[in-house]
Amino acid sequence: MCGIVGYVGNKDCTRVLLDSLSKLEYRGYDSAGIAVFENSKIKISKTKGRLASLEQKLKREGWINGCCGIGHTRWATHGEPSDVNSHPHASARVSIVHNGIIENYQKIKSFLENNGYEFESQTDTETVAKLLDFYFDGDPIKAIRQTISEIEGSYALGIMFSEFPDTIYAVRKDSPLIVGIGENEAFIASDVPAILKYTRNYYLLEHDEIVVLKDGKAGVFDKHGVHIEKELHTADWDMEAAEKGGYAHFMLKEINEQPTAVKTTISPRITDGMPDLSECGMTKERLAGYRSIYVVACGTAMHAGLVGKYVIEQLARVPVTVDVASEFRYRNPILSAEDLVIVVSQSGETADTLEALRLSKRIGAQTLAIVNVKGSSIAREADMVIYTHAGPEISVASTKAYMVQIAVFYLIAFELAYAKEAITEEECRRLTAALNGIPEIISVVLQQAEQCKYIASKLINAGNLLYIGRGLDYALSMEGSLKLKEISYIHSESYAAGELKHGTISLVTNGMPVVAVATQRELFDKTVSNVKEVKARGATVIFVTHAYKTVESDVADFKIALPTVDDILMPIPAVVPLQLIAYYTSVLKGNDVDKPRNLAKSVTVE
Ligand code: M6R
Repeated sequence: MCGIVGYVGNKDCTRVLLDSLSKLEYRGYDSAGIAVFENSKIKISKTKGRLASLEQKLKREGWINGCCGIGHTRWATHGEPSDVNSHPHASARVSIVHNGIIENYQKIKSFLENNGYEFESQTDTETVAKLLDFYFDGDPIKAIRQTISEIEGSYALGIMFSEFPDTIYAVRKDSPLIVGIGENEAFIASDVPAILKYTRNYYLLEHDEIVVLKDGKAGVFDKHGVHIEKELHTADWDMEAAEKGGYAHFMLKEINEQPTAVKTTISPRITDGMPDLSECGMTKERLAGYRSIYVVACGTAMHAGLVGKYVIEQLARVPVTVDVASEFRYRNPILSAEDLVIVVSQSGETADTLEALRLSKRIGAQTLAIVNVKGSSIAREADMVIYTHAGPEISVASTKAYMVQIAVFYLIAFELAYAKEAITEEECRRLTAALNGIPEIISVVLQQAEQCKYIASKLINAGNLLYIGRGLDYALSMEGSLKLKEISYIHSESYAAGELKHGTISLVTNGMPVVAVATQRELFDKTVSNVKEVKARGATVIFVTHAYKTVESDVADFKIALPTVDDILMPIPAVVPLQLIAYYTSVLKGNDVDKPRNLAKSVTVE
């Protein structure tokens, strides 16, 4: 949801800003722009379209030469993607880039218009640029403090005052911002990958702290203007982790990274063959005390929660409710101190999930976050946090993050089931050992990429698809369907296989592709019956099941054969072909796989 960067140092600032923005383009790619001090004057270049268009424009119209500047890549919220709505936005003396939403911008705009300011864009951001100008009386920090005391909503702002050349100011509330510290150079950025080419050291900025970047250094001040010392963090992601590394797309790279991601995530949480979540404060005693569990998340992270629900309920017999965060927030949930709310988020910045977490804490429930990005807002605000160690996920379509989220849910389920005495120690050890062996199983399934590509070639002309399954397979179908539609733009629905005949089967016509997932052996025959119902109505069936299961031609047109593991662990191998089918369908349709239309990776607005 927009990426912002800033740089002060000795390098070609325009080059640094473009490089850094290229690592944030996953956050939005409607337009891009930079503002750089050239000979102590602010020069702006911005354009609708991708970062590549901005670079072409700069080469065509003249590179901006300087050592200090700010940059932006946009996901439009207020005003269509256009040159004029692109950031930076400026007033007479101030230029800014912004990530977030200013909720009271109309009121501020009217106030400023009454004070003689004119606006050229439809954005909320321009009001902040003008309000800063209104309050600026020669003291930038004072103007920033007055401005942030009036604006409501979320913001990470990079600010330049024309009267303070080669200096950048930045401030944040509810939108992420880090401060990179290099050798005689300093940065601001929405996310760590933007700075990795230059440094791995960074500060986390707290709400309403103001950072000043000047002479290659960064100074941080609290809201009273008092200088504060910050803890220096070191990123454990290296630059290669944020590069494609020879793969055609980040999504394919990330699908292939899943065995390692799972291994890195679960290994440190297994002690003497037993799950061990004590690192985050989750003891056996604490687990035993929970009455019920809520999982709250969005999109793919919510789908991981659905797998978690099945697994926890099946093994631990503890009731689990899974909620879409944007619904949970407004439905006055019934929670108590005996409930555990698990929020799941790759980015750790998803606005609805963050607010759901805050609401749960206010009500008094205990909160646990499963998060990939270290130091993100959700990770910092939850009572307990389990970091998934997937490394940076750049592709908008989430794959490896989902995989490690469900791996963590297995650990929680095993430990909870043991704590509740719903399974024996022996069974807990057996399940943990099976999970430990899962990375090799994923590697085996990855070898089916060519078959998935062939199946994808049969889907590219489809207008509609169905994904069906029962139990855990239904949860998985939801993820398969989301993956396909977000990157291939083919409409698809996921349905509980047994529910089809209550209405949706009327959509099935000759040749309609139906992806059926049948990995749960107890439900296998029932799913096969449902598949026969769609097959009898002309559907082309792609059947995902165990390799050893024989599937007749009246059931499936294509079979995807999975290695057999415990039924409860089958979502792990089964999701891989669904990811690969979505990926290749998108590739074969010629879509921009990593940056699908209308989407952004990190959804920091409601
Ligand atoms: O960063 P989060 O995990 O909180 O993001 C949640 C969703 O926005 C995300 O999973 C989204 O659904 C993905 N594009 C799905 O591939």
